[in-house]
Amino acid sequence: MDIRPRKILIADDSRPDAEILAQLLRDHGYSSIIANNGIDAIETAIKELPDLVLLDVDMPGENGYEVARQLKSFRATRFVPIIMLTALSELGAKLEGLEAGVDDFITKPYRSVELLTRIRSLLRVKALNDQLDDAENIIFTLARIIEAKDSYTLGHADRVSRFAVSLGKKLNRSKEELDILDKGGVLHDIGKLAIPDTILLKPGALTRSEFDIMKTHPVIGCTICERLRSAKDSLPLIRHHHEKLNGEGYPEGLKGEQIPLLVRIVNIVDIYDALTTRRSYKDAWDIEKTFSTMYEEVKRGWWDGDVLRAWEKFVMSEEFESVLPKKPYSKLIN
Ligand SMILES: [Fe+2]
Repeated sequence: MDIRPRKILIADDSRPDAEILAQLLRDHGYSSIIANNGIDAIETAIKELPDLVLLDVDMPGENGYEVARQLKSFRATRFVPIIMLTALSELGAKLEGLEAGVDDFITKPYRSVELLTRIRSLLRVKALNDQLDDAENIIFTLARIIEAKDSYTLGHADRVSRFAVSLGKKLNRSKEELDILDKGGVLHDIGKLAIPDTILLKPGALTRSEFDIMKTHPVIGCTICERLRSAKDSLPLIRHHHEKLNGEGYPEGLKGEQIPLLVRIVNIVDIYDALTTRRSYKDAWDIEKTFSTMYEEVKRGWWDGDVLRAWEKFVMSEEFESVLPKKPYSKLIN
């Protein structure tokens, strides 16, 4: 069991109020850090990774709602519970807070006993989330170990994830769907962990029996991730990223409408990245050859032509440069 004192970030522009809170927390065995404005609160939370945030609504710069929105959008801080301290008891403020991702509210002036009870209960939830988060970190790290085995695919999972999210944005997908694309992109090939290196790294074409083994990776990937609650909605992307619209893909041979749009998005960016980068069995292709081949494959009934056209438009735009990751492993430190 973790016995370190729980660390609570107090974000309040009133120093005296913050000090009173800090004293109360100290008296009950918690450690605390104080931030006096919104920007400071965001930066401190990312740096210190507190176990909980007590957040004032009215602060100079970014207000409490904006701070909550930001903290819930970063991978590192999104599971940190936030209690908003508000002098406003009206419903509107709470609704805005809930929308920003706030987990609980306390109306000022607060009663110490009530505040401490809520802190305790959210810290219990946080402890459970931490366990989940550990499992998530392990699996996301494993996804990158596959790449480390094969220098040709270094950065592939990261690019597929970024590309899929960018294409999802262009196709007006919701925030939740973008999150599914983000995780599905990183994890899509995780089943390759179970594929022998002699097959995975073989220069040249695979034999039929080797290809049969290679074709098991989407289902194995699904099995690896199926107990990972936070990746639950990305499982179809892992399982079906080698399906083709005409039913010639694997593992299920799904056809047409059976293949959801998010899977089609991963199909396109996965193939695009494989073609435009060097592999053990081929050189990197230029963009022209890549797209002409992929359009041929659309005619053959493999990919979704509308999704490919949207992707081509994006690749040709100036915006494309900005999604290319600076470092292949950047997500590990995100
Ligand atoms: Fe794959």
